[in-house]
Amino acid sequence: MKPTIYITRKIPDEALQILEEECNVKMWDKEDQPVPREVLVKETREVDGLFCLLTEAIDKEIIENASHLKVVSNMAVGYDNIDVETASQKNIMVTNTPGVLTETTADLTFALLMSTARRLIESSNYLRAGKWSTWSPMQLTGQDIHGAKLGIIGLGRIGQALAKRAKGFDMEVYYYNRSRKPKIEEELGLQYASLEELLSDSDFISILTPYTAETHHLIGEKELQLMKSSACLINTSRGGIVNEDALYSALKQKKIWAAGLDVFDEEPVSLNHPLLELSNVVTLPHIGSASIATRKKMAAVAAEDLLLGLKGETPKHLVN
Ligand code: DGY
Repeated sequence: MKPTIYITRKIPDEALQILEEECNVKMWDKEDQPVPREVLVKETREVDGLFCLLTEAIDKEIIENASHLKVVSNMAVGYDNIDVETASQKNIMVTNTPGVLTETTADLTFALLMSTARRLIESSNYLRAGKWSTWSPMQLTGQDIHGAKLGIIGLGRIGQALAKRAKGFDMEVYYYNRSRKPKIEEELGLQYASLEELLSDSDFISILTPYTAETHHLIGEKELQLMKSSACLINTSRGGIVNEDALYSALKQKKIWAAGLDVFDEEPVSLNHPLLELSNVVTLPHIGSASIATRKKMAAVAAEDLLLGLKGETPKHLVN
């Protein structure tokens, strides 16, 4: 008998086809609307497999309620939306999609860094608002990227890919990571720094560490105080790593120069969020991995791993 699976959003056709060949599939087929919680609870009650996105909290309630569940496949590299501990206790496999999104996310991170440093969105809005009356020496001036110091918090795959891009711009690259990585340091020409050193010496700080209980509000008032007044903070990981109230105050009082944010504590971020009032913040709707090719690959990887798990084999990207 074919296993039954639930997919929490409309996914690319190629991945859907792979799944439909081997499973009875039920899917929340809306593209721009997350599955309501009560529907998710109901639909997962009797499924063998779950294909989900970072927008769904796969928590204790869902896991304990889904008595047949064997595999949860998350179409994302981050899996902080899943209660992995409860899943493990229930012998449920959890998988993610590392690797395929590394370069795309590093591209976006560097693009966000550049947009923030050189005030691209603000400048475009300035022109469209009819404010461009003349060229003037200090008009819309930003920060230089070439030759600047970049501090990367979290030297995983995306951190390393970002470091390579930064080296192409002659940046000096520092990193802070739980464990030091001497081989990569040597290969990429990076320097290890403590978090405090990195925060106080860098011109650009890129957050690329996973979101865990340990990294919750890793960047708060104290850490922002350490940064240079010309520093730009770039977050393409998870919003909860930065204390947004503290960031707002630091930006408003010009304690730091600017921020580029692809992620927020609560997503979608409310249009009334104070950070959105500030012209020195570039805001994006969590599009780090959003290239057509990469999103298709992520869906395919998640589908393949879900099938492997359902067949009783070990998925390629098992996190527990
Ligand atoms: C992830 O994969 O964790 C990103 O946030 C979305 O691609």
